[in-house]
Amino acid sequence: MAKIVCVLYDDPAAGYPTSYARDDIPTIDGYPGGQTAPSPKAIDFTPGALLGSVSGELGLREFLESQGHTLVVTSDKEGADSVLDRELPDADVVISQPFWPAYLTAERIAKAPKLKLAITAGIGSDHVDLDAAIEHGMTVAEVTYSNSISVAEHVVMMILGLVRNYLPAYQTVWDGGWNIADCVARSYDLEGMHVGTVAAGRIGTAVLRRLAPFDVKLHYTDRHRLPESVERELGLTFHPSAADMVPHCDVVTINAPLHPETEGLFGDKLLGTMKRGTYLINTARAKIADRDAIVRALESGQLAGYAGDVWYPQPAPADHPWRTMPHHGMTPHISGSSLSAQTRYAAGTREILESWLAGTPIRDEYLIVDGGRLAGAGAHAYSTRV
Ligand code: NAI
Repeated sequence: MAKIVCVLYDDPAAGYPTSYARDDIPTIDGYPGGQTAPSPKAIDFTPGALLGSVSGELGLREFLESQGHTLVVTSDKEGADSVLDRELPDADVVISQPFWPAYLTAERIAKAPKLKLAITAGIGSDHVDLDAAIEHGMTVAEVTYSNSISVAEHVVMMILGLVRNYLPAYQTVWDGGWNIADCVARSYDLEGMHVGTVAAGRIGTAVLRRLAPFDVKLHYTDRHRLPESVERELGLTFHPSAADMVPHCDVVTINAPLHPETEGLFGDKLLGTMKRGTYLINTARAKIADRDAIVRALESGQLAGYAGDVWYPQPAPADHPWRTMPHHGMTPHISGSSLSAQTRYAAGTREILESWLAGTPIRDEYLIVDGGRLAGAGAHAYSTRV
C-alpha cells in the first residue's frame, strides 16, 4: 500500500466554499494539436469545485483510501518541523502544485528513501530538483496542457492591463476620483505594437494565437522552431535567442520553463538591450528574471510595466520588493489555478495515480523524468545541470 503526501494551498480565509459564482464550467475534451484532456476512470468531485486547497484534497481521498492507500494532505511545507518534512521519510508519492510548491530539494529527496513519484498537479516541475530525482530513480510527472490555456488567458489580460493602464484607473474609481489625465497619462493602445514570446510551447503559442486579432506584430524565440505553416498563419518573426528578439519588442512575455538555460535570463544586461518603456509579463517562473534588476528597470523607466503571478519563494514574503515596485500588475500565483483548471489537473493527477498504482505506463506527454533521465515533455522542454 502506498503513502501519498499531498501539499496544497490553504482554504479560503472565510472557510471552504459552500456555493460558487457559477453553476457549471464548460467541458473541455481536448486541446489544440489533438492531446485529449485528462481521462481518469472516474472522478469523485464536482467539476468547478475548489479542489486545490487543503479541504478540496484534489478530490483524491475516496479513490485512494478505498484501495487501502494512505493520503496525507497538508499546506505545512516549510522547515524541518513541517508536516511535509515529517511525512517524507516513508512517503511513496508527493503531490504538489506550483502555486504552493513543495520544494523537493536534493536534501529532502535524500531523506525520502521510498519516494518514487512526484506529481505536479499543474505544469512546471522546477520545484523538484530534477537532477536529484534522476539520481534517486524517481518519476516526475505533470498534467501537461491542463492549465496552459488558463495561463495564456491571464497573459493576454496582463498585457492589456499594463499597456492600457487598467489597474491605476480602476484604483481611481475605488478612491472616489475622476482625474482622467491621471488615468491616461500612461495609457496606450496595444494595436501596432511588437509583441514577443520567450518560448512558443503550449502557453506561448496560445498567447500568440490570442493576440493575433489585436493587429500586433508577433515575434517568438524557442529552442524548437514552429512549423512554417504556423509562422505564416500568424505572421510570426522567429529569432534564434531571447537576446536577438527583445530589442525589437514593445511587449515581452515569458513562457519557458525554469531550468539551467533560462534561470536569471532577464537580468540587467538583457533588460538594458530592450527599448525604453517595454512591458514585461512573466507568468512562467520568477527566477527566470533577476528580482532586483526588475525593480531597478521599473524605477529607471527602462521597463514601463511588469506583471505576472510567479514569485520566489512562494508564498512571497510580505516585504518582497515586487509587492511595492512601481508600475507592476502582479497577482499571487493564480493564473493556472482557476476553478476550470483545477478540474482538469485534479482529473489528470488521478489519471497519473491510476496508471502508477496499476503499474501501467503514465502518458508520455505527462512525463518529465522517468527511467533515470528527462523523458516525454521533460526531454522536450527542460535541461539538467549535468
Ligand atoms: P511547454 O513544454 O508546452 O512549452 C515550453 C517551451 O519552452 C517549449 O516549446 C520549449 O522548447 C521552450 N523552451 C525551453 N527552454 C527554452 C529556452 N532556453 N529558450 C527558449 N525556449 C525554451 O510548456 P507550457 O505548458 O507552455 O508551460 C511553460 C511554462 O509555464 C511551464 O514550464 C511553467 O513553468 C509555466 N506555467 C505557469 C503556470 C502559472 O500558473 N503561472 C501554469 C502552467 C505553466
